Amino acid sequence: MAAGVKWIIANWKSHKTILESLQWLEVVGPELSQRTDLTIVVCPTYLAIAEMHKVIQTNHYPILLGVQDISSFPAGSYTGQVAAELLTDVAALTLIGHSERRQNFAETDQSVATKAQLARQAGLQSVVCVQGSDTPIPADTAIVAYEPVTAIGTGNPDTPANAVEVAALIRNRTSADMPVLYGGSVTADNAKQYLEQAGLDGILVGAASLDPQEFITIVQQWI
Ligand code: PGA
Repeated sequence: MAAGVKWIIANWKSHKTILESLQWLEVVGPELSQRTDLTIVVCPTYLAIAEMHKVIQTNHYPILLGVQDISSFPAGSYTGQVAAELLTDVAALTLIGHSERRQNFAETDQSVATKAQLARQAGLQSVVCVQGSDTPIPADTAIVAYEPVTAIGTGNPDTPANAVEVAALIRNRTSADMPVLYGGSVTADNAKQYLEQAGLDGILVGAASLDPQEFITIVQQWI
């Protein structure tokens, strides 16, 4: 585990216009303080990321930006895709292999591995989403997010104890200091239970990250 540093990553999925994204930042940004024990990341749409980056830089908000996916190809003639190397001005990391991408966009373990490699080569940290303790984890993975499918968007989160157990299995398969996050129906009401687990390095939050006040409350759970 990374010594004491927790991650809170917001995954906005296909939500929020540019204006709505900036309005969220306007509320959340001033409420966050610079901390060495907490890294906050927001993964908005590609649409909003450049505008958000400007506002974060101007106001020195302690927020990193990430993307929800990258192309499985390098920059080039790949219509509709955004390559990892095009994102490094604005993004620090990328999610890879989210179950919604596996279900709806034919993401495979092979494309996850290719994307993790391209991310590393470009200098983006890859947060590889795994659905269970046996999901393949590419060698280029920087962070693992354990997100059981039954917990995503269902209001039926895995227990903190089981998430810790799965995280330990994941570290056995990768390395002892691999950061492992939990995601799936994390809310302001249960975030603390995951954040306070020494065996978990943070949380990946979907729906509950969309509301600025709820996100502020989630961040306040780790003090
Ligand atoms: P949820 O989504 O918090 O809305 O369950 C989490 C995720 O899909 O990353």
